[in-house]
Parts: sequence; structure tokens; C-alpha cells
Amino acid sequence: MIRFENLTYIYYRGLPNQCVALDNICLEIKAGEFIGLIGPTGSGKSTLIRHMNGLLKPTVGRVLIELKEVVMKSTRFEVGMVFQYPEDQIFEQTVFKELVFGPRNMNLSESEIKKRIFEILDFVELPSEVLESSPFDLSGGQKRRLAIASVLIMKPKVLVLDEPTVGLDPVGKKSILQKIKQYHEKEKVTVVLASHDIEEIAENVNRIIVLDKARVKMDGSVAEVFSRADELIKIGLDVPKITKVFGKLKQMGYNTKLVYTLAQAQAEFARLLGQRE
Ligand SMILES: Nc1ncnc2c1ncn2[C@@H]1O[C@H](COP(=O)(O)OP(=O)(O)OP(=O)(O)O)[C@@H](O)[C@H]1O
Ligand SMILES: [Mg+2]
Repeated sequence: MIRFENLTYIYYRGLPNQCVALDNICLEIKAGEFIGLIGPTGSGKSTLIRHMNGLLKPTVGRVLIELKEVVMKSTRFEVGMVFQYPEDQIFEQTVFKELVFGPRNMNLSESEIKKRIFEILDFVELPSEVLESSPFDLSGGQKRRLAIASVLIMKPKVLVLDEPTVGLDPVGKKSILQKIKQYHEKEKVTVVLASHDIEEIAENVNRIIVLDKARVKMDGSVAEVFSRADELIKIGLDVPKITKVFGKLKQMGYNTKLVYTLAQAQAEFARLLGQRE
């Protein structure tokens, strides 16, 4: 579905301050996967993501989506991008205008657009009263919901999120991620989520790609990647707190498996307690 073929990207190429942000990246992402993209600051996550909708052009190599090479704007309706700061994305005077911008560019009928607006407001849990408000008068959490809604309203096949919950409180974070997960399950879209929040990654994704210094350092299931805790810590990353708790239990002699979500922890605790009786 998405293929990165020997992708190298250099900022300020040929200048004294040139920076190799991606170094020969080869990756394949299948349709319907939910990918977590992690890596220390400056490892290349945002640079990689920006190649998926043609915001950046490879210095070497290419990016294919459904076998078509991504070039400037060629995937603007297929790949929906949600950026770290909603302020970078929102530019219209009213919520209504913000929501209709994409669909009108897609030449959807006004009746279809109207239908989608009410569906999407309902989905992201924004009241229809906000339609005539300025997006900039919304709360932080509501702005994020709007930024996500303005992308989902186009029904993209691929949803890319770059740190979508930075700055939100834990409740706000959880509710946004739940929406994204729900959307993934309902529409079977491909999701790529870049985040520093390891718990957020652990609870939601099916596969983790770890970038370090412009290269792919690890690529595997959540269990595979979190079983390499020492290597993650070495490059400045971490495993979920609950994974550490169970690591300690194992050291103490308990026969427990690797756990990385709260649901797994609950089940594993129940099993361990059951064994004692
Ligand atoms: N616009 C730019 N101009 C020049 N260099 C850049 C630019 N954006 C990023 N870089 C450099 O490219 C490298 C990769 O940066 P990138 O933003 O992709 O990393 P990241 O993994 O997204 O980091 P973070 O976790 O901080 O968001 C870094 O060395 C960074 O300094
Ligand atoms: Mg980034």
C-alpha cells in the first residue's frame, strides 16, 4: 500500500549546514495497518511523514502509495495529515468554512458536504453550535477535534498524525486517541501515528517503527519492539510503565509474560492471582 524505496532526504543540500534527515529508508506499510512511529527528537519522524503527501520531495529514492509515486499534491485527498499544532492547519474564519474547504476542493456536491459535516461533528463530538464560531475561539481540545474532523471529512484512505495530542491533558489525550482508533476500526484505513507518548503508542498500534539518527532502528510488532527495552533506553526512548512493572515481577521469579497495555496487565494479574490459589 505505502512503500518507501531507498528514501534519503537532505535539508540544505550542498550547504555547510546540510543535514541528512533520512538515510536510505526502505519500508512497506500494508493497507489497514495502525503504525506507531517513534524515535528520539530529530530522528526524522516528521520528515518521513511529510513525504507521504508530497510536502517534501525525496532527495534520493521514492515513495509510492498504491503503486503510484507521490508527487506534489497527488495524494492530497487520499492521505490526510494532522499536524502537531492545530494552529498550523486551521486557517479559515469559521468552523463551517474550515470543514467545507477540503470537500469543496474534491468537488463533492453541497448536499453530500452537508451530510458529511453533521456526521463528522457528531463523530468528533463537537456541537453544531460551533459551526459559525471562529476556530480560534475554540478550546485547545476542541481545536484538535476540528483539525482531525477537517481531515476525516475527506474520508482519506491513509491517516497520518504527527504528535496529535501534545499539550492535551490525559483525559483529552485518551478521548482523541479513542476516536482515531474507532475510525481505524470502522473504516479500515491505514494509520501512521508519530508520538513521544509511549503509552499512547502501546495502547493503540499494531506495529512499531523506531527511527534513530535518520535510519530505521527497529520494525516489528509491539511485543517485539518492547522486548528490546535495553536498546530502546540506550537511544533515549522507553517502554510503557506497566511493561517495567511486569519486568520486575519476572525478575522476582513470577512466571509472567510481556505486558504493554492496561487490559493485558489486568488479565495477567488475574491469571497470576489464580495460580496462587
Ligand atoms: N525545516 C528544516 N530545515 C533544516 N533541518 C531540519 C528541518 N526540519 C528538520 N530538520 C532536521 O532534520 C532532522 C530530522 O528532523 P525531524 O523534525 O524530522 O525529526 P523528528 O523525529 O520529527 O523530531 P521531533 O521528535 O523533535 O519532532 C533533525 O536533525 C532536524 O534538525
Ligand atoms: Mg517531529
